[in-house]
Amino acid sequence: MIKNEVVCDPAHVLIFPLPLQGPVNCMLKLAELLALNNLHVTFLNTTHIQNSLIKHTHVESRFTKYPDFRFETIPDGLSEDHPRTGDKFLDITHGIEKVMKPLFREMLSSGKLSSKSSKPVSLVIADGFYNFGVGIAKEAGIPLVYFDTISPCAVWTFFSLPTLIKLGEVPFTEEDYDKKVTCIPGTEKYLRPRDLPSFFRTSDLSDPIVHLILQEIEAIPKSQGIILNTSEHIDGQIISQLSTYCSNVYTIGPLHALHKSIMLSKDKASPQANSSNSLWEEDNSCMTWLDAQPRKSVIYVSIGSLAVMSIAQLMELRHGIVNSGKRFLWVQRPGSLSGKDEDYAISTELSDATTERGCIVSWVFQEEVLAHPAIGLFLTHSGWNSTLEGIIEGVPMLCWPYFVDQQVNSRFVQEVWSVGIDIKDKCDRVTIEKAVREIMEERKDEFEKSASMMAKLARQSVCDQGGSSHHNFNRLVNDIRLMRL
Ligand code: UDX
Repeated sequence: MIKNEVVCDPAHVLIFPLPLQGPVNCMLKLAELLALNNLHVTFLNTTHIQNSLIKHTHVESRFTKYPDFRFETIPDGLSEDHPRTGDKFLDITHGIEKVMKPLFREMLSSGKLSSKSSKPVSLVIADGFYNFGVGIAKEAGIPLVYFDTISPCAVWTFFSLPTLIKLGEVPFTEEDYDKKVTCIPGTEKYLRPRDLPSFFRTSDLSDPIVHLILQEIEAIPKSQGIILNTSEHIDGQIISQLSTYCSNVYTIGPLHALHKSIMLSKDKASPQANSSNSLWEEDNSCMTWLDAQPRKSVIYVSIGSLAVMSIAQLMELRHGIVNSGKRFLWVQRPGSLSGKDEDYAISTELSDATTERGCIVSWVFQEEVLAHPAIGLFLTHSGWNSTLEGIIEGVPMLCWPYFVDQQVNSRFVQEVWSVGIDIKDKCDRVTIEKAVREIMEERKDEFEKSASMMAKLARQSVCDQGGSSHHNFNRLVNDIRLMRL
């Protein structure tokens, strides 16, 4: 670690997010907070993501108020019409390795990025998935801090992968799925093989994703630090475990709430506090529909930006919700259904229920929807950003995880934070109806109480009066300024 206390003000931070909605959303919030602190910031997006942002948000005009902020782009190596979701997600990783990695090296070593800025890049903040980042930054003589935008609990399971391999436990076989996993410190009481990231079960050890994870956990301790989107209150135990591998941990989450709190503290009417970074066109007509619904009566359904479901799964989920008799707001993202549109026939029963008490939209400003008083339950894929957004608003969750960190997150929602039910691999109408009734009727008070307690603690973390995440963000800014990284 470079320890000279030279003030390098303004420092120039290069932010390099993974080209996905969740990571881009939270990295942009971090970028804005750094720019607000008068640091020079370059945000390196893939061309595809940048075009989507420009098309669907006011991102360009929003950032013009920061004279030392700029966007740069890099191709992702995929054709423009590539879906970049579901099982095609792995193609992104090929593009990263083949196209983005060499271009990133060239950018850093040639200083090309600095040409538009008066300052050379003094720090890289890259997504934890870019295991090559730390080596390339080192070649260019620039420190790098990782921002692991997925959940810390999942990152912690990644660090346990070598032990699980050594013990011959991975890949787990189906008959062991419900046994407790005893060799991931701090999680022995609740994690089962079923709750670990999908590739712990389905892959053989030569699977490229296993290789990428092993590279990631080797790269993180070589970096100058790691930023995590969580707080002491949410993940205290996991943070202590991770600190044994990474000496410099900055927990600055829930970042969307920290961003809002800081923007409002600068300007009570700040439009930036509620700005969206959506990659799809938002249909905000649902806000008017929500206004007309009773308090805590609506189930909000969304599976995020990458997950896909089959038509059979959609039918089971929809029947389960409809049979519960509750109102619902359903996000059906373009491209989120596998199968052909013509296979998608909706029964009269479902369509009548939708007309009576449902609203179906293609994409929304989720943070705003979750904050609406009419929302009483969030049926989610348990992506990390969605989980944090649900926690901050005190909305109980019904979790139907899809992949990567989501199986771990949903288990934590149920067993650690007690703010929801994890139905995991089950997708049948009876299970869904039962879970909805449990959360919204039978154990309503219990779930509402724990969700609002959790929300209170998470909000305390980001408040400027002694909040740990607020404090850690200031520490990060000071460390960047003083070149303590
Ligand atoms: C990916 C990974 O798959 C996930 O495991 C990891 O935790 C984060 O990145 P993603 O589908 O992007 O998942 O999930 P999530 O992290 O929940 O991010 C989705 C983002 O999209 C959230 O910030 C949410 O607010 C936003 N969103 C979702 C909308 O703005 N509108 C919507 O209609 C739905």
